This record gives sequence, structure tokens and C-alpha cells, in this order.
Amino acid sequence: MKAVILAGGEGTRLRPLTLTVPKALVPVVNQPFLEHVLTYLRRHGVDQAVLTVSYLADRLKEHFGAGGNHGLSLVYSVEEQPRGTAGAVRAVAGLLDGAFLVLNGDLFTDIDLTGLVAFHRQKGAAATIALIRVDDPTTFGMVETDGQGRVLRFVEKPRREQVTTHYVNGGIYVLEPEALALVPESMHYMFESGLFPRLLAEGWPVYGYATEPFWHDIGTPERYLQLHAELLGGRCPSIWPGAPSDPTRGCYADPTAVVEGQVLLGLGAVLGPESRVLGPAVLGAGCRLERGAVVDGGVLWSGVSVGAGAHLERCLVGSGCRLGPGVVAEAAVIGNNVAVPEGGRLARGAKLPVVAQT
Ligand code: GTP
Repeated sequence: MKAVILAGGEGTRLRPLTLTVPKALVPVVNQPFLEHVLTYLRRHGVDQAVLTVSYLADRLKEHFGAGGNHGLSLVYSVEEQPRGTAGAVRAVAGLLDGAFLVLNGDLFTDIDLTGLVAFHRQKGAAATIALIRVDDPTTFGMVETDGQGRVLRFVEKPRREQVTTHYVNGGIYVLEPEALALVPESMHYMFESGLFPRLLAEGWPVYGYATEPFWHDIGTPERYLQLHAELLGGRCPSIWPGAPSDPTRGCYADPTAVVEGQVLLGLGAVLGPESRVLGPAVLGAGCRLERGAVVDGGVLWSGVSVGAGAHLERCLVGSGCRLGPGVVAEAAVIGNNVAVPEGGRLARGAKLPVVAQT
């Protein structure tokens, strides 16, 4: 089976972290995000994935190469201009044969792809959309189906009074080549607003595969932190086992350092005297907390140093940052290799470097 992974977006909502790192390489539980996805695809029998990329494409190619490390072959399609979700897949039609999978490249999920493909075949569908159940569909693409799973209607971001079902588009599809052929060539075109409504309007069999899987995207700092809290709590064991029972293995923790709650420490992390790490929290490889420094929740990428007495609460800190002694920050997002001088107090939710509004 082949899969197309949409990874061309700029990840603007995760800036400044994504100013130098494409979203697919953003670490999740200390491993580049897309590595989790490739392992998951492989487990469901995908042997070739087409990675549609644009922003920081060279970084991705350099990291993943031909995919051998993940047991599948990887092919790249580099877009000069973003072509939209469906346009990006249309551009690689020549690499596909038969039914294939499409995935938004920023989803961490355990959706049963094997079941999804079997359902698609059993229904004889032209397109099947993996549906997930959410409490509040108003920020998603709501998908109404009949009792057999056949899609009746799409309502993008329904108003509260329009909500008729809690099932929404989960960003994973199975498509037949005839459905893809309807996507216009060489123009920006989306599945959600373009191809799927068109298939319905023309009477093609479009189905929804409704389940209640683990499903999180890493699109915003809040969701990224939420995903970590869930994973550390062991809520997606088929993909990641949960926080280790002894997080300090492979690290140096002073006997007076405190590690509490669900915590993951990268290799070679150093916890100085009286420092504290309170979960849910992740420290990347080689992070260093000086005397009395506190990390209360949040995710630090690799090689971050936190000065004596500094206090970080629910922050997201890029690789190689140097936070001076006494720095205080809450819910801050700090880009890679930023230095914050001694005594720096960041406003709640600050972004460093400051991110221009788009
Ligand atoms: P934001 O800028 O924060 O919205 O991030 P994004 O554009 O990276 O993500 P978004 O949630 O908008 O898109 C969902 C997925 O589709 C992400 O994995 C994107 O990389 C991908 N994507 C969106 N637009 C395109 C596109 O034009 N081409 C390709 N190849 N992928 C796309």
C-alpha cells in the first residue's frame, strides 16, 4: 500500500520554533515527529510513502533520506508553491497505483488504518474519510453520514445550532485514482472545500469510517503540550508506552534534585542540586538544570540550559537555548538557540523571538 503524507505547510502557528525546523522534525517525546508517523504507517502495511514537501524541504530530505531506517521507501515531491492538500496529491498521481492513503502530516493518531482500508474496499468507495468523534465540532469539518457510513453532507466549521453529529474529518483518507483524477491540475485545490464536496455533488460513493481513536495534532503550542501530557500519561500505548518509571536512567541527577509526576528526560540530561522537574514535562538530550532551577510542565528540546533559580512553567523551549539564572517564564514559546539573560522575566505566553502576526 502507498501513502501520501502532506507535509508542505509552514507551521506558522508553531512559530518561532518552526522558523528553522519543519513541523515534521519537531520532536515529540524526544523523537522527530514524522518518525512516529512512519513507524505507524509501516505497521499498517505501507511500504512506500510520498512526502509532499515545500517549506524547509532540504532539512526533511537530509533527515529521512530514502526512508530505509523506517522500513519503507520514501519519495519526495517538492512544491515550489503550496498547492493545497488535494493539489499536492494530484501532483504525484503518476507515482500512485490503485487505492492509496493520504495523511495530514501533523497528526499523531492510532486510527486503525488497516480497518479503514478494509472498510473502503468493502463499501466500494471512491473516497473514504477517517472520522473522529470530538466534543465540539465547531472548529472542525463536520461530516454527516447515513447508517451505512455513506457521507450525506459536509459542514465546515458548523455554528453551534448547525451541529448534527460529533463526527468530524480526521485528516486521513483512502482514495481511488478516479477520484483523484477530478482534482484540477496545476492549481491550489483542497480536499475539504474542493474534492469532497464535488464528489458528493456528482453522486460518487464517499464513506466515513467512524471510530474514537487517539487523535491529536501538533498545530499549536497548546495542542503540542497537550499531546505530550497524553503520551506521558500512557494514553496511546500502541505507539508510545508512556513516561518511564525511572526517568533519570541515562541522566545525571543530583541526589537533592526532585523529579515528580510523568517526566521524560533525554539522554545525558543533568539535574543540578535542588533543581526540580514536575510533570508532565519533557527535557531533550543534554539539557541542563542548574542549582534550584524549576521546570514545571512543558517541553524543552535538546541542549537547553536553565540557569540557577530559573523558573519555567508550561514553556516550550527550542534546542540550544540558554536561559540565564533567575529567568521566569510561563507558557512562553522560545525559538531555537535563543539566549535569555540573567533575571529576564518574560510576559505570560511570550514568544521569543517576537513573531510577526500573519
Ligand atoms: P499553519 O501554518 O500553522 O496552519 O500550519 P500548516 O500549514 O503546516 O498546517 P495545516 O494544519 O494548515 O495543514 C495540515 C497539514 O497539511 C500539514 O501537515 C501541512 O504540512 C499540510 N499542508 C497544508 N497545505 C499544504 C500544501 O499546500 N501542500 C502540502 N504538500 N502540504 C500542505
